Amino acid sequence: MSYDRKFLVFALGYIVLGMCLGIYMAASHNHAEHPTHAHINLIGFVLSLSYGIIHKLWLTHPKQIIAKIQFIAHHAGAIAIFIGLFLLYGDFAPEEKLDPILGIGSITVLSAAVLMFYMVLKEKAVKA
Ligand code: HEM
Ligand code: HEM
Repeated sequence: MSYDRKFLVFALGYIVLGMCLGIYMAASHNHAEHPTHAHINLIGFVLSLSYGIIHKLWLTHPKQIIAKIQFIAHHAGAIAIFIGLFLLYGDFAPEEKLDPILGIGSITVLSAAVLMFYMVLKEKAVKA
């Protein structure tokens, strides 16, 4: 499967999950998990969909190994953040224990953004 489609499938998976959490919060009148919901929808859906669109429109010759690392880093980091936020805002685990998960997840998501930036710059250089 091409990376644009893989990102699209993951993005839609995240939006279903994020909306379920949103509906649960609305129905239960308990909005404690709103940062989790916000980031599942934003890092999960919006950012993944954006990466899928970038692949579709601007990356015709990405280096396969970099595209693969970027894809895995984005989703692994994102899922670590979602689990960390869920446990944090649901009061299921102490902040001291979750900080490393959230920190590593955030840096991993950031490195995926840097790799995407790099691939876009490289692509431009190829076409120019
Ligand atoms: C079924 C659809 C959705 C439902 C039922 C829903 C429900 C909610 C609820 C109950 C809150 C907490 C509000 C508060 O306490 O201030 C919230 C916050 C939020 N939602 Fe959703 N949501 C939905 C879809 C989305 C989507 C698609 C996005 C983004 C792509 C989104 C982004 C956000 C953000 C960023 C916040 C945090 C806002 C803030 O901190 O003020 N939501 N949502
Ligand atoms: C490495 C990635 C990211 C990290 C570490 C991060 C971290 C944070 C933190 C610490 C907050 C404050 C949460 C609180 O209310 O206590 C926050 C809020 C927020 N972030 Fe992010 N963020 C990231 C990515 C993003 C992205 C990609 C978007 C949008 C596309 C985004 C949109 C928002 C919004 C709308 C809020 C306010 C919603 C709320 O209050 O829950 N974030 N973020």
